[in-house]
Amino acid sequence: MWHFLPLFPVLLSYTYGLPNVVERYVSTGGTCCSLVLNGFSASTKSKLSFRNSTSFTDQQSGRQGYWTQQEASLLPACRLTPTCAEDVSSAVIILAQHNCHFAIRGGGHMSWAGAANIQDGVTIDLGQMKSVVVNDERTITQVGPGARWSDVYSKLSPMDLSVVGGRVSDVGVAGVTLGGGNSFFAPQYGFACDGVANFEVVLASGRIVNANLHSHRDLFRALKGGNNNFGVVTRFDFKTFSKGRVWGGFIVYPYQTLQSQVQALQDFTTASGAGTDPYASVINAYVFGTTGPAVIANQYTYTKPQPYPEILQNFTGFQPQISNSMRIADLLNITDEVGSGTPNGFRQLFGTATIANNASLFIQVLAIAQQVFEPLKTVTDFQASVVLQPIPRTITNKGITSGGNSLGLDGRDDLIFIDLTIQWSLAQDDPVINAAAELFLRRSIAFAKSQNLYNQFLYLNYALQAQDPIAGYGRWNQFFLRQVARKYDRRGVFQRLVPGGFKLWRDDVDCC
Ligand SMILES: Cc1cc2nc3c(=O)[nH]c(=O)nc-3n(C[C@H](O)[C@H](O)[C@H](O)COP(=O)(O)OP(=O)(O)OC[C@H]3O[C@@H](n4cnc5c(N)ncnc54)[C@H](O)[C@@H]3O)c2cc1C
Ligand SMILES: *[C@@H]1O[C@H](CO)[C@@H](O)[C@H](O)[C@H]1NC(C)=O
Ligand SMILES: *[C@@H]1O[C@H](CO)[C@@H](O)[C@H](O)[C@H]1NC(C)=O
Ligand SMILES: *[C@@H]1O[C@H](CO)[C@@H](O)[C@H](O)[C@H]1NC(C)=O
Ligand SMILES: *[C@@H]1O[C@H](CO)[C@@H](O)[C@H](O)[C@H]1NC(C)=O
Repeated sequence: MWHFLPLFPVLLSYTYGLPNVVERYVSTGGTCCSLVLNGFSASTKSKLSFRNSTSFTDQQSGRQGYWTQQEASLLPACRLTPTCAEDVSSAVIILAQHNCHFAIRGGGHMSWAGAANIQDGVTIDLGQMKSVVVNDERTITQVGPGARWSDVYSKLSPMDLSVVGGRVSDVGVAGVTLGGGNSFFAPQYGFACDGVANFEVVLASGRIVNANLHSHRDLFRALKGGNNNFGVVTRFDFKTFSKGRVWGGFIVYPYQTLQSQVQALQDFTTASGAGTDPYASVINAYVFGTTGPAVIANQYTYTKPQPYPEILQNFTGFQPQISNSMRIADLLNITDEVGSGTPNGFRQLFGTATIANNASLFIQVLAIAQQVFEPLKTVTDFQASVVLQPIPRTITNKGITSGGNSLGLDGRDDLIFIDLTIQWSLAQDDPVINAAAELFLRRSIAFAKSQNLYNQFLYLNYALQAQDPIAGYGRWNQFFLRQVARKYDRRGVFQRLVPGGFKLWRDDVDCC
C-alpha cells in the first residue's frame, strides 16, 4: 500500500480496522469448532463435522472434493456445511467473536492451497446450498452459493432460459461471479457479476443484508469483483433471459497454424470484429504438454443454434484440423465438454496478465512460453496452457449500465486476458513449476511494458497467489473497496480471520 501514501494519507494514520486483540487471542481451530457446535441447536449440530469423524472423510471425496491437490491436502479442524443463511450467520458471529480463522468454500475451484480451505481452522463449505429457483415471471434466477454452473444450466436449459454464467459446468457459481466472471454471454451482457441483480450477504456482524441497485449499493458494486472480502454471499439473484440451444465445441490444430491464429485473434478482438456480433466468443489456447507436440485448441461458441457463423470463419477455416467437435447443443453439454479436460486431483496453478490486442505481441509471448515450458516436458503429467481470451471493449463497457463493478475495466481498450494454467502431479515438482510460471509472467509483462502494450488489470480468478489483482483494479477502485470493507467490516474479520482469497491489504505480493 506504500504507493498510496501521497494520495490517501488517511489510510496510514489509521491502523486498519483490527483491534490488536484479534492478533493476540486467536482461538485454536478445535476450540472454534466446539464453540460453533455449542452455538447450534440440536437439529443443526449434524452440519458440523470434526476432522476425526467419518462424515468428514466422506465429504472430502467425490463431488465434494476440491479441484486441486493443493487445496484438498489441507485439513481443517472441522467442516461446517450450512443449509441456510441463518446457519452461516450464527457461525460467523461465533467465529468473529472468538477470533477464529476460517475459510469460505463455494465450488472449490480456486487452485492454490488456502484459497477456500484452511489447515487447522474452520472451513465453511457452502456445497449443500445449491438450489436454483426461477421466479414466476422468469426474469430472475436465485442461486445458492454452493451451486456449480451445471446445477444452473441443468435447471435453465430445459426452460430455454439462461444467465450470464461460467463456461465450465463443474466450477462454482460463487467464485466465478465474485471475481468478475467471463462467460459466453459476456459480449452481450458483460461479465457474470454484471448479470447479478441482488446478492444476499452475511456480514461480519452476522447481519443478513441484500445488496442491489436500491439497497447497500456500495456493497453491491464492491461484491462485483471483490471476492470474499465483504461477507459470505448466501444467494445470487441473476437476471435471466431466453436462450435455446447454442453452437459450440473445440477445434484443435497443429501449432504450425500459429501465425494465422494470432492474426485472426487480433482481428476478432475489436469493435469492428467481435463488437459487430455479440453472440460469438473464442477461447484461444496454446497447449504445451508431455504427450506430444504443442497444439492450438480453440473453443468457439455462438450463442444461437447457427453453425459456422461468418464472424468466426477466419478461425474455423484453418486447416489442417486435428479434431473438431463443433455441434448444436444445450449449455450443459457445451460446458461439460469444456470441463472434460480439467479433472479433479492434479496439482494446478493459474497465473495471469492483461495485454493489448496486438498480434506481434502474442507471437512474442508465445515464444517466451515455448522457451520456458518446453524444458519441463519431463515433469510428470505436465501440461501448460497459455490461453488468450479476447476482451474487446464491447464487453467491458457493459458493466457501467448495471450499477458498475469494481474491476476498473471501463470499455476504453480492446484487451487480452492471458490465462496461464499448469497441471502436474507431484509436490516435489512445485519449485520448478512455480519458478517457470513466474518467469513466463515476468518476461511477458516486461516485454509488453517495453512496447507500451501492457495493462495493469489482473483477472482475479486466474491470478497466482503471489499476484495482487485488487491493485490491478486501479487506485480508485482499490480505495473504494477498502472504504466499503471498513464500513461493513470494521474489525477486519474478512481481512484477517479469513486468510484465503485475494485480500484488500497485502504485504505478501512478490510477483508480477
Ligand atoms: C476448470 C476451470 C474452468 C474455469 N472457467 C472459468 C470461466 O469460464 N470463467 C471465469 O471467469 N472463470 C473460470 N475459471 C476460474 C474460476 O472463476 C475460479 O477458479 C473461481 O474462483 C472458482 O470459483 P469456485 O466457487 O469454484 O471456487 P472456490 O475455491 O470455492 O472459491 C473461490 C474464492 O471465492 C470465495 N468464495 C466462494 N464462495 C463464496 C461466497 N459464497 N461468499 C464469499 N466468498 C466466496 C472463496 O473464499 C475463494 O476465495 C475456471 C476455473 C477452472 C478451474
Ligand atoms: C473429535 O475431536 C473433538 C474435538 O477435538 C472431540 O471432542 C471428539 O470427542 C473427537 N471425536 C472422536 C470420535 O474422536
Ligand atoms: C477476417 O480476416 C480478414 C483478413 O485478415 C480481416 O480483414 C477481417 O476483419 C477478419 N474478420 C473478422 C470478423 O475478424
Ligand atoms: C453431448 O451430447 C452428445 C449427444 O447427446 C453426447 O454424445 C456427448 O457425450 C455429450 N457431451 C458431453 C461432454 O456431455
Ligand atoms: C503492435 O505493436 C507494435 C509495437 O510493438 C506496433 O509496431 C504495431 O503497430 C502494433 N500493431 C497494432 C495492430 O496495433
